[in-house]
Amino acid sequence: MSKTAVIYWSGTGNTEAMAKAIENGLKDAGAEVTLLSVEKTDADAAGAFDKLALGCPSMGDESLEEEIFGPFFTAVEGKLKDKKVALFGSYGWGDGQWMRDWRERAAKAGAVVFEEGLIQQEAPDESVCTEFGKRFAGF
Ligand SMILES: Cc1cc2nc3c(=O)[nH]c(=O)nc-3n(C[C@H](O)[C@H](O)[C@H](O)COP(=O)(O)O)c2cc1C
Repeated sequence: MSKTAVIYWSGTGNTEAMAKAIENGLKDAGAEVTLLSVEKTDADAAGAFDKLALGCPSMGDESLEEEIFGPFFTAVEGKLKDKKVALFGSYGWGDGQWMRDWRERAAKAGAVVFEEGLIQQEAPDESVCTEFGKRFAGF
């Protein structure tokens, strides 16, 4: 069976809540899944999974969090070719530009990107995230 990791960074818990709900959806659909905060993994470990769900909120000015998640994504970017990748994250006042930019970056790296990426404003609707996880399991 393919192995999936859900790897996320979260400052105030909203993207973490998304990650947990996505993990639940993947599990409900029968996937073998590992949930990791980005501080507890690295690009080599992430690259060993068949499928990745990566989560980071919109930070800075419509960008990925710069201290931890940004460097992690830069390091994992070279390992994404032909890998199935789902992107998700919480945002506040923007219109989701960070997700559009992030999706384009992942696609340019050769990832097979799932849907448009899931964005949720502030605290997520967990059922929407669970359904996203279920669909990603079948992707
Ligand atoms: C330093 C900082 C920068 C932010 N920049 C943006 C932004 O550019 N666009 C946006 O929509 N929200 C922005 N936000 C709001 C966060 O994306 C939002 O609060 C989100 O729910 C945080 O997710 P988390 O709880 O997983 O950390 C910013 C928040 C902080 C603290």
